[in-house]
Amino acid sequence: MEKKQHPCPSFPHFIHGADYNPEQWLEMKQIWDEDMALMKQANCNEMTVGIFSWSTIEPREGEFDFSFLDETIEKIGANGGKVILSTPSGARPRWLAEKYPEVLRVDDQGRREHIRGRHNHCFTSPVYREKVRRINTELAKRYGKNPTVIAWHISNEYSGQCRCELCVNAFRDFLREKFHGDIRELNRAYWTTFWSHTYDDFDQIEPPGVLTETGIHGLNLDWNRFVTAQTVSFIENEVAPIREYSQLPVTINMMYEFTELDYHKVARVIDFASWDCYPEWHNGDDSVIAQRAGFWHDLYRSLKKKPFLLMESTPSLVNWKPYNKPKAPGLDVLSSLQAVAHGSDSVQYFQWRKGRGSSEKLHGAVVGHDGTADTRVFRSVQTTGSILQKIDEIAGTVTDAQVALIFDWENMWALNYCQGYAKDDKKYFETCYAYHRVFWERGINCDIVAPNADLSGYKLVIAPMLYLTGEETISNLAGYVRDGGTLYGTYMMGTVDENDLCHLGGIPGGELKEVFGIIAEEIDTLYPAERRHAAEHELADYCETVKLLGAQAVVCYTDGYYKDTPAVTRNAYGKGTAIYQACRDTGSLKEKVLWGILDELGIDSAVHAQAPLAHGVTAHSRTDGVHTYVFVENYSDKEVPAVFLREPMEDLLTEKVTDCCELPPYGFGIFKK
Ligand code: GAL
Ligand code: ZN
Repeated sequence: MEKKQHPCPSFPHFIHGADYNPEQWLEMKQIWDEDMALMKQANCNEMTVGIFSWSTIEPREGEFDFSFLDETIEKIGANGGKVILSTPSGARPRWLAEKYPEVLRVDDQGRREHIRGRHNHCFTSPVYREKVRRINTELAKRYGKNPTVIAWHISNEYSGQCRCELCVNAFRDFLREKFHGDIRELNRAYWTTFWSHTYDDFDQIEPPGVLTETGIHGLNLDWNRFVTAQTVSFIENEVAPIREYSQLPVTINMMYEFTELDYHKVARVIDFASWDCYPEWHNGDDSVIAQRAGFWHDLYRSLKKKPFLLMESTPSLVNWKPYNKPKAPGLDVLSSLQAVAHGSDSVQYFQWRKGRGSSEKLHGAVVGHDGTADTRVFRSVQTTGSILQKIDEIAGTVTDAQVALIFDWENMWALNYCQGYAKDDKKYFETCYAYHRVFWERGINCDIVAPNADLSGYKLVIAPMLYLTGEETISNLAGYVRDGGTLYGTYMMGTVDENDLCHLGGIPGGELKEVFGIIAEEIDTLYPAERRHAAEHELADYCETVKLLGAQAVVCYTDGYYKDTPAVTRNAYGKGTAIYQACRDTGSLKEKVLWGILDELGIDSAVHAQAPLAHGVTAHSRTDGVHTYVFVENYSDKEVPAVFLREPMEDLLTEKVTDCCELPPYGFGIFKK
């Protein structure tokens, strides 16, 4: 059975395009025509427009002028291209903030911002919501059924917080609702008798900040939850008029290592995921950089469990890192196809053409200030475009993963607030990346999911440092193992509940003790240079001691005061298995245990690989339910040994049948069976 899921169903193809800002060239209209010719030459078929166009389309309050958008969309359509149309709320026109200062944010010292920058409006302000709703309504009415438009890009990179009176009151209402209007319930959940910080009334509550309470961890967590909830409600307000006048799907562009919003929750109000990927290529080992970017590609695919879009990437360099280095020849094409290997149905750039002025004038773009196609960067984009055309049948295919890794924003916040362990250096991201790398190096697809996700389709679930586990998570994980799943947990698991209160009766909390068949006792936090060992494996940072409650020790510590006690345990529970790694290793321990589990569970690589592939090499697969498509990628700048496929396949780039993929520096292959 064919199972394709195109993010933009009215255009069931790979999208190859860029952020396009022709409003910056209104006084040099000949550039617009040059752009159209260059887009064709670059093998681009899409432009994302309108992201920062508010002052052009509504120059004065209530006075709309759509001529620029009409013409842009019409030109792109006539040129054979498609448009992803943005709502403009990411940056507002000057008149709006001048007339209604409440749209400007207030910081955590009570200071209201002046007009500046972007992505900095108050999410609660009824005026801002109303103005956004108005312009989105106009846009949706005018372009919602335009055949050139294929999707809506809502605002830009939502982020940040506001502590104005409106937001503070909304926060109090949020807490009133959560605690059923009962301040005693809040006091209990927040453990406020500590330091005599008991509240008498919801109106006494202030958001945590530089001058306010930050020691109540439950409050801190709820503030983060509120910021997510308020952003989600702002997005819903943006999307409502669009749904009224348009059937087209909506997305927001998300970010790398973004900590402020719980994207698992945000994802519920969009139709497909998209994100902006800007790794710091060549700053160290490119295979590490690629694998970390791969983690986020996997996450965004998993958010909606279907293909996503790579909404932004640079074809050469960015301009906002401490050092801004262009991509070496070959890497741009490879890193673009990396997204596709992980489940993207697009390669899109920021931006189409370099602007002449302001802060992004030196940011990479498909077309530079020379305005020609005769550049290394342009040719690279052309190459990517022609490859996407060749492999177009892959668009819409999905990713089957037998392994999932749990990543959770709430857990990350709780770990960051937690005073203990290595207080300011707990390394949650790094630890998740380290487990993800085991699968990346073997060419095994891995989903990245929320703790409450449906886990029933996975043979193996990894839950690194899952310190915060509420009732729902505990029962989800326990149910998964009971029904036959294999769960791999680590030190710190199940320490606190959803309000950041420690589980009583021992950790991991609740039923997790039976699931893992252990009870954890103490954590030895090592100083940065300290090392311990478990058999031949080196350990760093954390060695937790555990007592067995039915589990078996798989590996024991060989030094420390816990010598000969369990470092890794295994327990049969229901129809499944639970493995617990009580310590952080520097590489080989988790690999050894996980490689054994992969063999036991019969989880195979996308290619022929009984062991990790050569350094820098990985593989991924996509499927339409009938065909399998395999991507083999080499992120090293050296030629590496050829990779063998599991069986002879069609090489989609050469159209020959082969079972071998040669891998020059930054080389790749795409195969079909
Ligand atoms: C993104 C943003 C774009 C542009 C780009 C530069 O984060 O969405 O508008 O600023 O960065 O890399
Ligand atoms: Zn506000």
